[in-house]
Amino acid sequence: MTATMIGVIGGSGLYQIDGLEDARWQAIDTPWGAPSDEILTGTLGGVPMAFLPRHGRGHVHSPTTVPYRANIDALKRLGVTDVVSVSACGSFREEYAPGHFVVVDQFIDRTNARERSFFGTGCVAHVSIAHPTCARLSRTCLNAAQAAGITVHDGGTYLAMEGPQFSSVAESRMFRAWGADVIGMTNMPEARLAREAELCYASIAMVTDYDSWHPDHGAVDITDIIATLTGNAGKGRALARGLPDRLGPDRAPCPCGCDRALDHAILTAPEK
Ligand code: ADE
Repeated sequence: MTATMIGVIGGSGLYQIDGLEDARWQAIDTPWGAPSDEILTGTLGGVPMAFLPRHGRGHVHSPTTVPYRANIDALKRLGVTDVVSVSACGSFREEYAPGHFVVVDQFIDRTNARERSFFGTGCVAHVSIAHPTCARLSRTCLNAAQAAGITVHDGGTYLAMEGPQFSSVAESRMFRAWGADVIGMTNMPEARLAREAELCYASIAMVTDYDSWHPDHGAVDITDIIATLTGNAGKGRALARGLPDRLGPDRAPCPCGCDRALDHAILTAPEK
């Protein structure tokens, strides 16, 4: 058993966690530069937690400029074991309506301007992301969302786009035809990096709009997105409050192997 520490990466609309004891903002430095912001640490129900606003307080990082490697590394350095990503998304499915949450379990990565690995020259490693999210942590998030009275969908494929512009109607129709359920700009390369850092990772996507495919809804509008997010902020915080009790202070090894992802992944010979 090892000690649990929950890391929450909050997207637009989730800029804090309620009720943290001994809360303090900590500046963490990493070899990959500074994370998006200081990290709020504390305990909730006896379980240590760390909260990182993905875009920084004041929303200063665009999806492209978020320092994803520094963010994941900073959480790892603090001792985080389980990362819960909270983010806004558009929906490609009629039944995934604005205001609903989706526990994402697959990704299609269309980002093209971000550093996506901790490995490269000097140390080469290939981890599997066949199952890019942690099933154990995802189930915990699903249970916490249901207990908080949130309408939540169990599973969904998230298309990560580069942005910052939203999709054209033709792109939106194409992504639907590919089988994507939701679309957002931030979960990649975050999920890849969490796996390389041997962290359990779950993604809660909050539906804010129908992207641009829906004949009965107009083009995506950031004002509408913010209005939905503002309405949802309490739900996101309620979900986060439900995590410590469910995960508990001690954790057994991850049944999916997230915490052992590098066991057979490194090709580079160790230095003599
Ligand atoms: N975030 C929220 N809605 C989105 C959309 N339609 N496309 C990309 N990112 C989003």
